[in-house]
Amino acid sequence: MTTTTTVAAPRVDGEQNPLRAGLPSSRITDPCTIVLFGATGDLTMRMLMPALYSLRVHDMLPADFAIVGYSRTQWSDDQFREAMKRSIQQFGADVGAPEGAIWDDFVRRLSYISGDFDDVACYESLRKHLEEDLSEFQTRGNVLYYLATPPVVFGEIVKHLDLAKLGPEDTKGWCRLVIEKPFGTDLVSARKLQSQIERVFSEKQIYRIDHYLGKEPVQDLLALRFSNVIFEPLWNYRYIKSVQITAAETVGVEQRGGYYDRAGALRDMIQNHVINLMTLVAMEPPVSADADALRDEKFKVLRATRPIPAGRMDEFAVRGQYGEGEVAGKEAPAYRSEPDVGAKSNTETFAAVKLSIDNWRWGGQVPFYLRSGKRLKRKNSEIAIEFRNVPHRLFGEMGDQFEANSLVVRIQPEEGISLSFNAKYPGQAMHIRTVSMDFAYGSGFGTKGAPAYERLLADAMRGNQTLFTRWDAVEAAWEVVTPVLEYWEDTRAKDFPNYAAGSQGPKAADELLAREGEAWRQL
Ligand SMILES: NC(=O)c1ccc[n+]([C@@H]2O[C@H](COP(=O)([O-])OP(=O)(O)OC[C@H]3O[C@@H](n4cnc5c(N)ncnc54)[C@H](OP(=O)(O)O)[C@@H]3O)[C@@H](O)[C@H]2O)c1
Repeated sequence: MTTTTTVAAPRVDGEQNPLRAGLPSSRITDPCTIVLFGATGDLTMRMLMPALYSLRVHDMLPADFAIVGYSRTQWSDDQFREAMKRSIQQFGADVGAPEGAIWDDFVRRLSYISGDFDDVACYESLRKHLEEDLSEFQTRGNVLYYLATPPVVFGEIVKHLDLAKLGPEDTKGWCRLVIEKPFGTDLVSARKLQSQIERVFSEKQIYRIDHYLGKEPVQDLLALRFSNVIFEPLWNYRYIKSVQITAAETVGVEQRGGYYDRAGALRDMIQNHVINLMTLVAMEPPVSADADALRDEKFKVLRATRPIPAGRMDEFAVRGQYGEGEVAGKEAPAYRSEPDVGAKSNTETFAAVKLSIDNWRWGGQVPFYLRSGKRLKRKNSEIAIEFRNVPHRLFGEMGDQFEANSLVVRIQPEEGISLSFNAKYPGQAMHIRTVSMDFAYGSGFGTKGAPAYERLLADAMRGNQTLFTRWDAVEAAWEVVTPVLEYWEDTRAKDFPNYAAGSQGPKAADELLAREGEAWRQL
């Protein structure tokens, strides 16, 4: 049962929020209880609670909502509320201090359950919380379960919700499940997890998060492609020479060595975020902006992605692991010296793959180069469309080195779009230089978009699945990367560590492109 509402949480201070004034009421979410599994964890503290409070401050939550936290730490409701206040103080940007009437109204809606995720009594307690929220906060029985927990317990939680009759069949209103990444660790485990979940929740009730898709420039890529006529005619193998998608970080594994050492860059970044970006670049225009129309087209790209030939993995995929070095003027340890990482770890902290798409638009002729790594020279996520050269050079006899056009969508840290083209350098001689037109979000519109988690939480509450990954695409992405994962697991990397912290990445990655006469964009 789906309910719609147009009522925002009342401005308890009686003021209109100028930022959101004039916002269509359809943007306001449905009344509901949000159940945060993993309520003491890093994700809840750094992202989810600050995002929820920001939604409240910006009038994007309905008048009727409640939040229940659930994890093992023995906290009372008040201790949970205090911890959430501290997390908002530390990580909440642009929301002001959590105090005053808005905070008082928000905090009284928070409650907490402590216990293990397989403790039947806790699910009984959860039922009571949901019933109380229904009568006290008018949540209409709508429930959003958010699994911000270690992935190993995703299936367990769903099973217990079902056993306790707290699943979609039994709730009074709508019932949705938001699942964090990673969805499985390979094709087999992803299928197993899916089969556990689909026994209880239908695809329309499952929201698989890829927070990259919530970022403003990623959605702007869709606007760029499908609300302009000037790019689409060029968007094919005839005019595009290659596509480079980069997700580069300067940070190492920080406190997450235990998790990362079992995952690696291919699983952690390429299988989900980077491949998702590739599908948005490569897909056909959807028939509408409807979630399934868009996700149909994304899935078709993955179906057309050519499998990496067995026995030739090294020609299509390379890996790296950082040794010690210097990042932003500070000494950085080698990966193998990070906390909770094995001294002989074979885990890659850098991965690059070359993929081809066999369909009418790309003809298998345009390499899509995807790379992601930690402890690189600069934090930079971007999509670069490299166009072909002019067919005949009229200019450039004077030794000018002008480049083919490129279109770059910058995702982070700066958000914007750059188009590079060639122009005449002033003077009597016909010298050509490459110049660029830049659009930056902050200065371009004078306002910033909502952070990714705010947007995704709000979308899940209003039942919009557009920015969430559908099962068929998750499965297809695992089909692309699993042969590489298996090959890397079977063959130890002999040259690890093979790039210094703070560098551009391993030499092998340069060689991957050099074989095609290409080079990575410098970080
Ligand atoms: N952190 C990030 O920046 C980030 C980014 C993207 C995706 N994610 C994903 O988000 C999820 C959570 O990550 P995280 O970094 O927040 O992990 P975390 O800091 O380790 O937190 C895990 C949470 O789950 C609870 N928990 C674990 N096992 C439990 C059990 N058996 N019973 C009850 N509670 C249990 C913990 O409770 P106690 O501590 O009280 O025991 C804690 O609240 C993961 O799937 C991760 O891949 C995280």
